[in-house]
Amino acid sequence: MIEFPDGFLWGAATSASQIEGSPLADGAGASIWQRFVHTPGLTHDGDTGDVACDHYNRYREDVDLMRSLGLNAYRFSINWGRVLPQGTGRVNEAGLEFYERLVDALLEAGIEPLATLYHWDLPAALDDRGGWLNGEIADWFADYAEVMFRRLDGRVKKWATLNEPWVITDGGYLHGALAPGHKNLFETPIASRNLMLAHGAAVKRYRQVGAHDIGIVVNLEPKYPASDKSADRSAAERSAAYMNHQYLDPAFGLGCPDSMAEIFGAGWREWTADELELASQPTDWLGVNYYTRGVMKHDPSSWPVKANYARQPGSTYTDTGWEVFERGLTETLLWVKERYGNPPVYITENGSAFYDPPVADNGRVQDPLRIDYLKRHLRAVHEAIRQGADVRGYMAWSLLDNLEWSLGFSKRFGIVHVNFETQERTPKDSARFYSAVISSNGGALAD
Ligand code: BGC
Repeated sequence: MIEFPDGFLWGAATSASQIEGSPLADGAGASIWQRFVHTPGLTHDGDTGDVACDHYNRYREDVDLMRSLGLNAYRFSINWGRVLPQGTGRVNEAGLEFYERLVDALLEAGIEPLATLYHWDLPAALDDRGGWLNGEIADWFADYAEVMFRRLDGRVKKWATLNEPWVITDGGYLHGALAPGHKNLFETPIASRNLMLAHGAAVKRYRQVGAHDIGIVVNLEPKYPASDKSADRSAAERSAAYMNHQYLDPAFGLGCPDSMAEIFGAGWREWTADELELASQPTDWLGVNYYTRGVMKHDPSSWPVKANYARQPGSTYTDTGWEVFERGLTETLLWVKERYGNPPVYITENGSAFYDPPVADNGRVQDPLRIDYLKRHLRAVHEAIRQGADVRGYMAWSLLDNLEWSLGFSKRFGIVHVNFETQERTPKDSARFYSAVISSNGGALAD
């Protein structure tokens, strides 16, 4: 018998730049993603977020859809530049009102909003001033956060500061696959530090003007060595430090992992006591995004961590090339419990891109692999709860097929199919399955 705790949040997640469209509507300022997708050659097929899922205009329909699926929570993000077109200074009331209308529609539908303040769409005007490389950004971010807290705290009771600081820096500053598209080892640890200072400054500000819960969202991937060789074992350790400890350790007051100096070499400088103090402001919850594990082998050509993924024969891989490995989610949640003192955790993203057939004449989209992924991972969450992890909710990634960043619309993560020509939404079989899991509070996972 599978049963989830009372009050468990069953939701789905999205982010602003992946679904909203209308990026410059009603006085919004451009973001770094707007620039990135409009630079030839940077996204699959030149896809942009100009329309995406047109959620900016269709949010009511999308909230109705969530209600019809039985969701009681929804995680979305706020595009900073809609609210502050220049990133600082003048507030754009029309942009703020969009999020206010969205939150009100959710509350009317009995759906709890979880708002993320930063899911990668930095105002371009701030990037022109150095963006995440400029130490002033902690104040810029806290000021923006305060605008949101003052308008929406109370209606929104769960706030997240940043989504996946590791991806922001590894993709945006080190390898250049994500906005702002830099490839610079020396910038990367600066951006990381400023992200965590911005996180801390926003949490501090929240304690002054907000009265509910705030946390951070990280992506975690347990790392296993590809063999017993010591080179592979240290490759796995370095990879774990780089991805899993780099942000959580300072956030929970454990300082920066030693291996950062080894990884970043001349680019690394130790954080000051003041920086460590600001980054470690106590939080109320932790968001965990989980997709896969990493089986790591030593690879000197893989820069700068000198570790690469070893493919696992016999495993299923998703359309983004990620191994399906649900036990890693249980292990990750238990690791968080042990290492960070069992904080309240929400799974803020978990899901899979698979090739989906077109919508059939009978209106169905059959996606058995996604159902299987969902079932395995929900059972894995349940197992972690059974072993004492304080997991309070699960948000499927994603509610809708959407703009998968530089991969454009080529990867479909939605439990709801989107026809990007007509904007028609069709719940896939996985959405129907998820609905059944929700209405049975997990019971449907037993079959
Ligand atoms: C991000 C999402 C993204 C998903 C799938 C996460 O890293 O937060 O925005 O679409 O993974 O790649």
